Amino acid sequence: MSKFWSPLVNDLVPYVPGEQPKMANLVKLNTNENPFGPSPKVIEAIQAELNDSLRLYPDPEGEGLRQTIAAYHKVKPEQVFLGNGSDEVLAHIFYGLFQHGEPILFPDITYSFYPVYCGLYNIQSRTVPLTDRFEINPEDYKQPNGGVIFPNPNAPTGRYLGLPHVEGILAANPERVVVVDEAYIDFGGESAITLIDRYPNLLVCQTLSKARSLAGLRVGFAVGHPELIEALNRVKNSFNSYPLDRLALAGAKAAYEDEAWFRTCRDRVISERERVTAALEGLGFEVLPSKANFIFARHGEQSGEALARGLREQGIIVRHFNKPRISGFLRITIGTAGQNDALIEGLRSL
Ligand SMILES: Cc1ncc(COP(=O)(O)O)c(C=O)c1O
Repeated sequence: MSKFWSPLVNDLVPYVPGEQPKMANLVKLNTNENPFGPSPKVIEAIQAELNDSLRLYPDPEGEGLRQTIAAYHKVKPEQVFLGNGSDEVLAHIFYGLFQHGEPILFPDITYSFYPVYCGLYNIQSRTVPLTDRFEINPEDYKQPNGGVIFPNPNAPTGRYLGLPHVEGILAANPERVVVVDEAYIDFGGESAITLIDRYPNLLVCQTLSKARSLAGLRVGFAVGHPELIEALNRVKNSFNSYPLDRLALAGAKAAYEDEAWFRTCRDRVISERERVTAALEGLGFEVLPSKANFIFARHGEQSGEALARGLREQGIIVRHFNKPRISGFLRITIGTAGQNDALIEGLRSL
């Protein structure tokens, strides 16, 4: 607290990102990054941008990247909005596409940035409990609201909601924007982008931080009806006209142009996820079915906190949330085969 702070800042409850420790040789399975690096073509494309043109501002609309993403998802460039990581896209969505005076709905267990944006922009919200099996029940989203948002697959549970159920939520809320945050969709889910043309109230948000191995580049995007995109552009151009720098625009475009690299890395993560799941079940863990690049698991006899602490003493970092309903769980990012072996052995020893 400082006398120089605005009253708004006094009341903020900021998001706490997963730790980025500086220690060497850590097995870092705590922030859902991709264990495999980006395509060499991404590195080449970024290197090609390291020249005199850096003195010039980047394209404020990111036209080339928008065209690439639009072609990939079979939509029009005017249906695509780019941001500095999907966190920034989400911030603009909360500001520009929800009705602030009516409670927006999101699951009680979900991405913990959502309540933070509500606090920042003074948006009313109501959490909707997941079922006992930690699933989203579409029926629960048939109530008056100022908008709806949920990740699919959900974080930190990893549970996926099939498209017919997503459609149920969309159809029940024709007067409100429904945002599907698909940060982890590439690890086994089916994107709701295919529903965009039928639902003008649908906005799908994705990121290059996970399946495209580019968390360090900060690129996210939203796809939806041009009217929704226009709202996001109005917010963006009232905040920062150049959210993506020249390196990010070039690297992200190259990532979409190397489909083979993307598929190979994604498939490895998926097969490792299945292997780690089976191994943890063998150690007495309950592992929720995951379609993400992480699993959410609890042990019948050991507390989540004690396990996280025990792993840390062995140089293995996972995420533990000290929150109602989920304090028994660990959220474990899927790593390389070697990292996953270390995790399994670490848990076995505990
Ligand atoms: C559900 C969900 N949405 C969005 C994000 C933000 O991703 P980024 O800002 O890296 O694009 C994350 C990051 O972990 C996430 O878990």
